[in-house]
Amino acid sequence: MTACEKLVRCCECIRRFTDFKPKVTLVLGSGLGAFADEIKAEAIIDYSDIDGFPTSTVEGHKGRFVFGYIGAVPAVIMQGRVHYYEGYGIEDVVLPVRLTAMLGSEILFLTNASGGINPDFSAGDFMLINDHISSFAPNPLRGENIDILGTRFPDMSEVYKKELREVIKRSAAELNIPLKEGVYVQLMGPSFETPAEIRMLRTLGADAVGMSTVCEAIAANHAGMKVCGISCIANKAAGMTDNPLTHAEVQECADKAAPLFKKLIERSVSAMGGL
Ligand code: HPA
Repeated sequence: MTACEKLVRCCECIRRFTDFKPKVTLVLGSGLGAFADEIKAEAIIDYSDIDGFPTSTVEGHKGRFVFGYIGAVPAVIMQGRVHYYEGYGIEDVVLPVRLTAMLGSEILFLTNASGGINPDFSAGDFMLINDHISSFAPNPLRGENIDILGTRFPDMSEVYKKELREVIKRSAAELNIPLKEGVYVQLMGPSFETPAEIRMLRTLGADAVGMSTVCEAIAANHAGMKVCGISCIANKAAGMTDNPLTHAEVQECADKAAPLFKKLIERSVSAMGGL
């Protein structure tokens, strides 16, 4: 089965459950999953109920679509995402996001937990993603182009749309939440980086590093979605402190930041209704 056929089949499968048309797709990263439990759901679909759908195996990531309203904005929340390091092909990693594009979603709002490379960043900071570096992860558009979604050689000069960044900045200011800004780089994982790799990434212009997000942003941009994203800095990157990195530390910091993060996301998505 081609990636396109698989998408069409998954789409038909979802349409048997619900005809909800989301405007915004919200991808919840580490520690943020509970946000989806707080909205009044119109429909919930477990990834495992969708034929051929990749299911996430990471601790702290449930795998389901929650359809409902954030403020007055129809949204689908991806509670749990699939990571490349779990062993899936890159086209499966981006399948959920592409699927939401096929359901009619126009905006992709990405969140994640990351390691801070910029020395001005501390654990618990939020970083508005203004660009990315994809060069260390496989490109999700590799292989036969899916013409029903987009063009073979998509422009990438403004993936993280200025109008969405402005909305997020305004929302953060209204809530008195300090917001950093910078470039996110995706590595394949699952091992964290070495100090030498972090020095390299800093030289290349990255401000935060993680194991997700960029491939989803590329696929969404290809499919004509407007993209934005916020990263929760969960730790200073390897070599920047004396402590070794653990998933538990990342999880703990993301959990602590979650209440503020949720407020910022809720306000921002609500304000995107008018776009
Ligand atoms: N590196 C990569 N991914 C991460 C990190 C990190 O330091 N923290 C949270 N996700």
